[in-house]
Amino acid sequence: MAILKIARMGHPVLARAADPVEDPAAPENRRLVADMLETLEDIGGLGLAAPQVHVPRRVVIFHRPAPQAEEDDDEDDAGGPLDLTVLVNPVIEPLGEAVDLGWEGCLSVPGLRGLVPRHRHIRYTGIDLAGRPIEREAEGLHARVVQHECDHLDGVLYPQRMPDLRWLVFESEMKRVMAEMEEMPEAAE
Ligand code: NI
Repeated sequence: MAILKIARMGHPVLARAADPVEDPAAPENRRLVADMLETLEDIGGLGLAAPQVHVPRRVVIFHRPAPQAEEDDDEDDAGGPLDLTVLVNPVIEPLGEAVDLGWEGCLSVPGLRGLVPRHRHIRYTGIDLAGRPIEREAEGLHARVVQHECDHLDGVLYPQRMPDLRWLVFESEMKRVMAEMEEMPEAAE
């Protein structure tokens, strides 16, 4: 296995549509996923898409986030290990009209954070590395992560989804930004 170099915004591999995977169990594909897993573990982050490691193939990996504290009735769940999913040839279907704004970052856009609108509920389908079908419904942060990673497969980075670039900020300014938003909460709705 190997830790792979991350493509940064401006590299053409991040701007093109990735190619479908014909044989997810092929050795080259298994090696790619093993390297992506090691890379994500090394860098930290919720997810990674193959184009971010310079491979234009429709493969994403992501952690299914733990429930948010206010929604979490079961304390045992809060610190539990996060489920890691390998999703090949994913397809996303929005469920309902609801859209939420939330903060996102991206390994390919280092140092920045942005407020991005995403569908609140989605269904996603695809296959795993053995070619078995995956079908899940997701909401909240889980749905956001899947939409962010799958956008990479269509050459879309999160700033391109932002309706208001005033909310594209440096991580180092986040505290100040959050304080400012509390003074005008309508900006976040
Ligand atoms: Ni990203």
